[in-house]
Amino acid sequence: MSQEQEIPHDNQVLFCEPGYRLAAHGRQATEDERLTLLEQIFDPISRQQRAIIQPGWRCLEVGAGRGSMAVWMARQVGATGQVIATDVDTTYLERLTIPNLEVHRHNILSDSLDHLSPGSFDLVCARLLLFWLAGKQEQALNRMVECLKPGGWLIDEDGDWGMVTPVDPAHPHYGLYHRAWKNGDWWTMRGYDPAFGRKLPVLFERCGLVNLRHKASASVVRSDSPWGRWWRQSLEGIRASEQADGSLTEERAKEYNALITPLNDPSCWVMTAPIHACWGQRIS
Ligand SMILES: C[S@@+](CC[C@H](N)C(=O)[O-])C[C@H]1O[C@@H](n2cnc3c(N)ncnc32)[C@H](O)[C@@H]1O
Repeated sequence: MSQEQEIPHDNQVLFCEPGYRLAAHGRQATEDERLTLLEQIFDPISRQQRAIIQPGWRCLEVGAGRGSMAVWMARQVGATGQVIATDVDTTYLERLTIPNLEVHRHNILSDSLDHLSPGSFDLVCARLLLFWLAGKQEQALNRMVECLKPGGWLIDEDGDWGMVTPVDPAHPHYGLYHRAWKNGDWWTMRGYDPAFGRKLPVLFERCGLVNLRHKASASVVRSDSPWGRWWRQSLEGIRASEQADGSLTEERAKEYNALITPLNDPSCWVMTAPIHACWGQRIS
């Protein structure tokens, strides 16, 4: 079935090619704040997921954002190791001045891998990037695998972003939220997979990786928690991108209100998206 056929009638004309919807361009300060919150929320667990890192390793962080994980990895590999941080937008990364951390403006889908030295990395990581590359995730992963040396590890973390939901059916915002969210098909209508994260092990296997390992976790949090605030800022950022490209109809604006209202009400408890971490090793 084509993507157009899957889209309900009232949204048919609004389908835009999926891509990264939270670009910093034109909203640098707001996105800086959102990414700062993202790092505060996800870094502690990401550091645990990357505990295999060794002094002297050469590591690649793809779609590095503000770069907190790249900075942490640079510390772990020490003076004898090296970290390369890439992103399509290096605005934030360019602020970093760390001797063993190199920044490259690079699109993992389309730019040549040559200047990253394919086959040279002990560890390649990405976090909360692949979801956005809808339909092209395997292509991106294959290119990350190409960067690994034989024996090197790939670690990716991403979410089932369609599973975010208020948990109390008795709460006044519950019904309106669910009508707008449509069990996560709010994402499907925009061309994204609401259950992407859980597919990482399958994709890793298809890309020829071995010694696969997977772990996922979610929590139930109050709307005014850091996670709730980050999720609200994320929805507001996506809404701004739809406003900018003309796909924000009156109907969609109402849906955003239904999704954001519970996040402004601290009496509302929300289940976070399960975040999946996947590990795989290149053999040859
Ligand atoms: C949600 S942010 C996550 C940032 C960072 N990985 C983190 O978790 O802190 C996604 C990042 O991926 C970058 N990005 C989007 N598409 C990309 C692509 N095709 N190639 C490389 N980076 C990309 C964006 O510019 C953004 O910085």
